[in-house]
Amino acid sequence: MHVTQAIKNRRSIRGFKPDAIPEATLREILDTARHAPSNCNTQPWHFTVVSGEARARLQEAIMAEILSGKAPSPAFPPGDVGLTGVYKERQYDCAMTYYGTMGIERHEKDKRQALMLKNWEFFGAPHVGFLSMPVSMGPVNGVDIGIYLQTLMLLLVEHGMASIPQGALAFYPDEVLKIANLPEGHGIICGLSFGYEQEGEQINKVVMDRAPLEDTVTLIS
Ligand SMILES: Cc1cc2nc3c(=O)[nH]c(=O)nc-3n(C[C@H](O)[C@H](O)[C@H](O)COP(=O)(O)O)c2cc1C
Repeated sequence: MHVTQAIKNRRSIRGFKPDAIPEATLREILDTARHAPSNCNTQPWHFTVVSGEARARLQEAIMAEILSGKAPSPAFPPGDVGLTGVYKERQYDCAMTYYGTMGIERHEKDKRQALMLKNWEFFGAPHVGFLSMPVSMGPVNGVDIGIYLQTLMLLLVEHGMASIPQGALAFYPDEVLKIANLPEGHGIICGLSFGYEQEGEQINKVVMDRAPLEDTVTLIS
């Protein structure tokens, strides 16, 4: 598969088969993802993958936290902070496309919340990864994390797998930290649930468009 094809084939997939990825394949993918570039080659990422029994226990524990009314405590400001103008509009359009595909009207708050909660069920994926970086680092180092994330997602596509990056998985870190053994000083920046796509599921019919080239690119000569 060519890179162009992998980039165009990747979409956020939120419905998965229960089948686990063979560990040797997972290791091969993660080994290749290590080659992502970073500022001064600092490689500030750490990726903890939780599967099997541990994944089931983690889901239960995070759900209990959320249902008890615990407030989110992300290590980094969430991605929806400071959105104005066109960015706020795109966020709105994203939500409308998502809920629209799922047949949820804007006023159906309970249904929207139920869909939101699926984030902490890891959308049924057999594997959930938590991507962290040092809390002392700033946005420029965050670029490294983004590059690593996309590298990983494209490798999964190449291997016939699918994924969903999730900022929501940074909201309730306490239970993750009990099992994840993150490097000293790291905070979770986002999660990635992944596995094999369950084809035909309505939630996998969500297709997000992109702004036209001229809105996000400037060519000067
Ligand atoms: C860093 C990051 C965090 C995201 N967080 C969530 C999330 O918490 N829940 C979710 O359902 N989708 C999440 N998404 C998926 C985006 O909504 C999705 O990438 C965007 O709408 C474009 O759609 P596409 O990935 O299908 O191309 C996230 C994506 C990124 C890159």
